[in-house]
Amino acid sequence: MPLVSSKELLLKAYDGNYAVGAFNVNNMEIIQGIIDGASELNAPIILQVSAGARKYARQEYLLHLVKAGLEISDIPISLHLDHGENFEICKACIDGGFTSVMIDGSKFTFEENIRVTKEVVDYAHARGIQVEAELGKLAGVEDNVSVAEKDAIFTDPDQAVEFVEKTKVDSLAIAIGTSHGAYKFKGDPKLDFERLAKIEAKLPGVPLVLHGASSVPQDLVAICNQYGAEIPGAQGVPESMIEEAAKKYKVCKVNIDTDLRLAFTGQIRKYMKEHPADFDPRKYLTPARDAIKQVVIRKIKILGTDGKA
Ligand code: G3H
Ligand code: 13P
Ligand code: ZN
Repeated sequence: MPLVSSKELLLKAYDGNYAVGAFNVNNMEIIQGIIDGASELNAPIILQVSAGARKYARQEYLLHLVKAGLEISDIPISLHLDHGENFEICKACIDGGFTSVMIDGSKFTFEENIRVTKEVVDYAHARGIQVEAELGKLAGVEDNVSVAEKDAIFTDPDQAVEFVEKTKVDSLAIAIGTSHGAYKFKGDPKLDFERLAKIEAKLPGVPLVLHGASSVPQDLVAICNQYGAEIPGAQGVPESMIEEAAKKYKVCKVNIDTDLRLAFTGQIRKYMKEHPADFDPRKYLTPARDAIKQVVIRKIKILGTDGKA
């Protein structure tokens, strides 16, 4: 099966009240683990490549590994650029065969974010490629942050309308309290669902995207720490909140990277510690790949994507 358009996957998720998992990929074992997990549950998936992943693995390798996965599986897969920082990287991915790109202009002023996003949208749409953009700043917000400060960080619903109208972007990543990495909240985990409801009401038909959506499962953190890691106090977005965002709101794409990293690293650490005499990479990469598969299976059930291929 060829790559499918992200637009098709996201619009089906929008209508069906579920979300598609967008998993970050960096090497063969991660790609295999994700595709194996999604195939077992007959779920569509988005594989996404960051600038760091392109630098590490090189775009062509990742593209061809994904194409190999397409040849031997039956599930719909789209290939997406994660956090494209400028027009050039978006163009390189569009020209290289990706089915969607994210232009992340969230670090710019509102006007500059519109300008750069529109530049990418014009290039992408002329070639049938879908674009995700981001409005608001992804950051963990502590309990004592004032409403005014929150407004400066979180996505403003009225600005979101103006942004989508002016850029014609296909999907919008919003800031409602999630953040990247393994330390998402200092106090109790909290997402601004009220704001999410306002944004989706003002943007009918626009799939929303949740970045920083790893749950940092404590069993995965514990395996890492038991075998020598030092990741104290790591905390993610509770799975119940991710499920609510996916099934009760119009969050149609949920980005997950940190949980994959924890699962992969934990199993490598465990194998190394328990088998100090082994030095065959296949030995420790096999349980690591299987751990990726198990994370993906768990995510797909939470997101409601099982059986939606
Ligand atoms: O949002 C960031 C993703 O987790 C990708 O991370 O830039 O280290 O590849 P990276
Ligand atoms: P996590 O760090 O929560 O996995 O978020 C990943 C992400 O948003 C990739 O764009
Ligand atoms: Zn992200």
